[in-house]
Amino acid sequence: MGPTRPSVAQTDNEQVLWGKKREHMNLGVTMEQPDSPTNRHRSGMRSPYLEWAKTRSQARYTLASSGMASYTLADFLSRGWVGQEDLELTGPGGYGYEPLQQALAAKNGVAPTCVVAAAGTSMANHLAMAATFEPGDEILIEQPTYELLLSTALYLGARVRRFARRFEAGFRLDPREVRGALTPRTRLIVITNLHNPSSALTDQDTLREVGELAKGVGARVLVDEVYLEACYSTARRSAFHLGNHFVATSSLTKAYGLGGLRCGWVLAEPGLARAMWRLNDFYGVNAAHPAERLGVVALNHLDEIAASYANLLTRNRQTVNRFLDTRPDLEVARHPFGTVLFPRLREGEAEAFCELLRSRYETSVVPGKFFEAPQHFRMFVGAQEPILAEGLERLKRALDEY
Ligand SMILES: Cc1ncc(COP(=O)(O)O)c(C=O)c1O
Repeated sequence: MGPTRPSVAQTDNEQVLWGKKREHMNLGVTMEQPDSPTNRHRSGMRSPYLEWAKTRSQARYTLASSGMASYTLADFLSRGWVGQEDLELTGPGGYGYEPLQQALAAKNGVAPTCVVAAAGTSMANHLAMAATFEPGDEILIEQPTYELLLSTALYLGARVRRFARRFEAGFRLDPREVRGALTPRTRLIVITNLHNPSSALTDQDTLREVGELAKGVGARVLVDEVYLEACYSTARRSAFHLGNHFVATSSLTKAYGLGGLRCGWVLAEPGLARAMWRLNDFYGVNAAHPAERLGVVALNHLDEIAASYANLLTRNRQTVNRFLDTRPDLEVARHPFGTVLFPRLREGEAEAFCELLRSRYETSVVPGKFFEAPQHFRMFVGAQEPILAEGLERLKRALDEY
C-alpha cells in the first residue's frame, strides 16, 4: 500500500501554469505550457479526464458516471411528447432559436437576452471563459475541480491560480481561500455548484461574498451549475441573479438524463451574452435543429422528467449512506444533494484501488487523480438500483482485499 498522501491541503496558490513545462495536475501527462499569448502550442493539448471517461470508464457496474440514466426517443414518443414537427431538420438560424431562448429564459427566470444556448455545459463554459478573459490574463479556479474547467482555461491561455476547497471542511467554498489567491490582476473566479467532485452546495450568501471580492478587482465569477439542477424540487436560484458580475452555466445533461441533446446554456448580462453569441460563430455556428426542438420539448416536461430521478436519488443516497456506515476505511464528506460522492481512502492511493475494482470486480469509479486528489475516488449515486447494489457489494469486496 502506498504512503498516506495529503490531498487538497497541498494547494499551491502561487502555482501559475504558464511559460514552463510542468506535470499537468499530477496526471502523469506532461503538457507544454505556452510561453506567451503569442506563442501558443494548442495542438498537443488534451483533456486526460475526458480521454479516460470516453475510453476507460465503462464497466459491467459503472459507478464512474455522474449523470442520471438517459432518456430515449422512445420514452418521449410513448409519453406523446413528440410529434413529427419536433424532429424538423432545418431551423431559422440566427442568434438563438426563439422558442428555445424563451423556454430557457422562463426556466431560469431571466430575460431571453441574457441566455446563450450552447452545446452542453462544456461549450457554455468554453464560451463564458473565451468572452471573459484574454490570453495571458489571470484567473482563479477552485481545487479540486472538474478537470475540463482547468484544461479549457489553459487552452484559452489563462494564467491559472488556485484556491483550495478543503476535504477537512467538507469541500465547502471558503471566501477566505478565494481572498488569499485573489490579486488586482484577477479577471475571473471559477467555481462549480454543486461542487464536482464532492457535491457540496454553496449558498447564496457565500456566493455573494465571493462576488464582492470579484467586484473589488473588476473580475467576474463563473459558476458551473450543472449539478445544481439535481437539487430538483428544492430548486436553487442561479448565481446569475446575484448580479451582472456573475456568469452561470448549465445543461440538461446530469439531472435529467438528456446529455444527448447537448442542451446547455450560459446566463450572462446582455452585452456579454451578445459577445458569446458572436464567439460561437467561430465554434459551432448553429446548433443541430432537431436538438433545439427536442430541447424545447424537454424543458416543457422537466418536472415530470425530474420526478423519477429525484426519488431514485433519495433512495440511493440512503443505500450508499448505509454502505458508508460500514466502512471505516473510507472518509467522506456527505452532502444532501448531488449525483456523486468523493470518498477518501484512509490508506493508500486510489488509482491502484480503482484498477483492482475494475479489473477484478468489473466495477468502475473515477480515480481522484483527475481531480488532483489521488487518495480519493468519485462514485455515482444515481445508478439504477440493481447496478448500485451490486456495485456497492463489489466495492466492499475490493476494499476488503485492498
Ligand atoms: C462540472 C461539470 N461541468 C460540465 C460538465 C459537462 O456537461 P455537459 O454534458 O452539459 O457538457 C460536466 C460533466 O461531467 C461537469 O462535471
